[in-house]
Amino acid sequence: MSTTRRMWIDTDTASDDVVAIVMALQHPNTEVVGMSIVIGNVPVELGVQNALYTAELCGKNVPVHAGAEMPLVRPFATAQHVHGADGMGDIGLPLKGRKATSNNAVHEMIEAFRKEPGELELVALGPLTNLALAIRIEPEFASWVKRCVIMGGTGVLPGNITPLAEFNWWVDPEAVHIVLESGMKVEMVGWDVSVADAVIEDDLAAELRALGPLGQYSIDIQRVLRKFCEESSKLKGFDWPDPIAMAVALEPDIATSEAHRRVEVSLGLGHERGQTIVDHLGNTKREPNCRVVYRVDRARFIDMIRTALRAQ
Ligand code: RIB
Ligand code: CA
Repeated sequence: MSTTRRMWIDTDTASDDVVAIVMALQHPNTEVVGMSIVIGNVPVELGVQNALYTAELCGKNVPVHAGAEMPLVRPFATAQHVHGADGMGDIGLPLKGRKATSNNAVHEMIEAFRKEPGELELVALGPLTNLALAIRIEPEFASWVKRCVIMGGTGVLPGNITPLAEFNWWVDPEAVHIVLESGMKVEMVGWDVSVADAVIEDDLAAELRALGPLGQYSIDIQRVLRKFCEESSKLKGFDWPDPIAMAVALEPDIATSEAHRRVEVSLGLGHERGQTIVDHLGNTKREPNCRVVYRVDRARFIDMIRTALRAQ
């Protein structure tokens, strides 16, 4: 009998985060013990509503805590031009009026891991501000995290929000630095993996949509992302960075190419803000601090998506 994976999700809940959350909530051997919302794709209040709405659709009662409303240091902008003003494709979903469990996400996350040191896995789908605050408030926090799978950075590709940086790491590079230097067991699933193995072309999207209510929901909320991807990345579809990171969290051996590397982040001010620095050759002579995932088994990933969206 495989043991249940117990997981905490930190997210800036928008259209791709939602599919990752559905994957975790619908996964047979996984229990989501809590979710913390961080600034990123959308303002935190919208992220809270989107996470609560999604848990309700999945018939799950998961605590959702509101977290950091701003990055630690930097001025920034949300990605509502990518996912929609509501982060959910602006298709008129009833995303108002649900109440966060608390406004103390960082405290709640610290206490959840304190209670079960080494037992809970952490999946970070947005900027790392909440994680960095937890590390600064409780220096032992990093050691209590069994593993931390991060959607962020790029292992080999340039960026998506600037020529050099991926959005989650661009929003709060100081937070990324704190996490990478904390000793936490970090696994990075960068935007390059999403572009390589998680593009959902239109015909596949239509197939997934037809799987049932969760399929229709998961595809319809990608409306604005689909348009953005066609215009910006010239894709005939959209890529799913958070779902493929969640696939690595749920089935670690789904990775087909990986390496342990020293990974750092640029704290520069210009284009290099938030740039991922992977020490591929060991030039820094610093100990590796990250499992860098470069490629994932796409067929297994798509099957995981089908299974999650079919489940009711
Ligand atoms: O760069 C992609 C990441 O930024 C994804 O997590 C997406 O949801 C946004 O947060
Ligand atoms: Ca995200």
